[in-house]
Amino acid sequence: MSGAKKAKMVLDREFRIGDVDKRIYGSFVEHLGRCVYGGVYQPDHPQADEDGFRKDVIELVKELDVPIIRYPGGNFVSNFYWEDSVGPVEDRPARLELAWRTLETNRFGLGEFSKWVKKVNSETMMAINLGTRGISDACNLLEYCNHPGGTKYSDLRRRHGAQEPYNVKTWCLGNEMDGPWQVGHKTPEEYGRLAVETARAMRQIDPSIELVSCGSSNSKMPTFPDWEATTLSHTYDAVDFISMHQYFGNAEDDTPNFLAQSLEMDHFIKTVISTCDYVKARLRSKKTMNLSFDEWNVWFHTKASDDDTMANRPWTVAPALLEDPYTFEDALVVGCLLITLLKHADRVKMACLAQLINVIAPIMTDNNGGAWRQTIFYPFEHTSRFGRGVALETILSCDKYDTKDFTDVPVVESVAVMNEEAGEVTLFAVNRDLCDNVELGCDVSSFGSASLIEHIVLACSDLKAVNTLTASPVAPKSVQGGKVDSGRLEAVLPPASWNVIRLKIS
Ligand code: AHR
Repeated sequence: MSGAKKAKMVLDREFRIGDVDKRIYGSFVEHLGRCVYGGVYQPDHPQADEDGFRKDVIELVKELDVPIIRYPGGNFVSNFYWEDSVGPVEDRPARLELAWRTLETNRFGLGEFSKWVKKVNSETMMAINLGTRGISDACNLLEYCNHPGGTKYSDLRRRHGAQEPYNVKTWCLGNEMDGPWQVGHKTPEEYGRLAVETARAMRQIDPSIELVSCGSSNSKMPTFPDWEATTLSHTYDAVDFISMHQYFGNAEDDTPNFLAQSLEMDHFIKTVISTCDYVKARLRSKKTMNLSFDEWNVWFHTKASDDDTMANRPWTVAPALLEDPYTFEDALVVGCLLITLLKHADRVKMACLAQLINVIAPIMTDNNGGAWRQTIFYPFEHTSRFGRGVALETILSCDKYDTKDFTDVPVVESVAVMNEEAGEVTLFAVNRDLCDNVELGCDVSSFGSASLIEHIVLACSDLKAVNTLTASPVAPKSVQGGKVDSGRLEAVLPPASWNVIRLKIS
């Protein structure tokens, strides 16, 4: 039986959490599966441009308006030899790629990515190999990318056709170095020492770069949060960010519990902030460490079959891996996760939806056909488009529920973003209730004469519906019925729905 629940909210222009750094709408391109080959790059495809990049993919990435893209991994980076991926294509060697048991042809490398990232109006977040390599290779790569010329590696770049430096600003010091699966996995002491020495050397080459110290691979790691405390005790003064990674899933097919998993992300962020602030206090430092949540998403649909494929298949070029077909309920969870990142806009200054194309991705392609938007495309697109400005806390009273792993889960998850330049405030809200409408009443009187621009809803009667090349049952719609009257917003949030309520403010 469906009915209606009520939620009472106050939204005030002074309830500021912090400025939204647009880089929280970042994403990730790894040499994994068909993300690069068959996604970004497919010279024999009818949609390929003069550089071999798929134009249909470029258009979809532009729709998402992604300001920063992490590259080239991921687990891939921990045994990556960047020199193999530059220079004349015919001279580039094929290599055994250990993380995903794949043949890497190096047809696509740093130069190609730098060109592509410009075409999608983005910038590079470069990850370096601190698994099988170290300080000197990181320095050589930085010299190749950012030094103008007149040195061994900057002149090599120029000989490779790039006269101007790439000027990569953001650098990740390794990837998931706490994980036993990582090639070159390290103890916190080993990693902390290597990372700080690498950071110091890199800053001598280019003091303008920003550096990300490697945090835990997820909140369930046995070494969390000691990893953060120990590694930061070495790197704190030398870096600007600590990274966080976490993936979520519904392997047990328990939707109310799945929809509550953003509470786990919230708890993880709060614990990392506390740990950073503890190290800050111990070091008597004046600096506040920011967070780069540079891998997050739903990932579970393909895990078991991929493990089997990797164990049992021969070395192959660009096999289909991690191609999770995202359901409607996955999109709701991604919406809750985006709201959670925005709720921490004061400390989470970068984040990457992992990944961008084909591999646990909002954008899918057919090697022999077109490209399409998965369900999770929409909450990301909406927040990226309308979630720039100042994040505002919503004061909310609504029903709560308990699940296997969580207690007091609010039926409504919400945050707002005020864009003063555009004279708009946007409320993002998920109704987690699977049966009932939520009738939302919200005091918006602090914004003066506010009026409703539009109420966009992503809803679907089938929680397991997926989009494909030929059908998109999950797509947003503008709905009628909401209104703002005498400083009060009223809107109905349908059962199991993602909502974007845009107001014009004075
Ligand atoms: O995004 C897929 C993989 O997940 C990345 O390579 C790795 O960093 C993480 O474990």
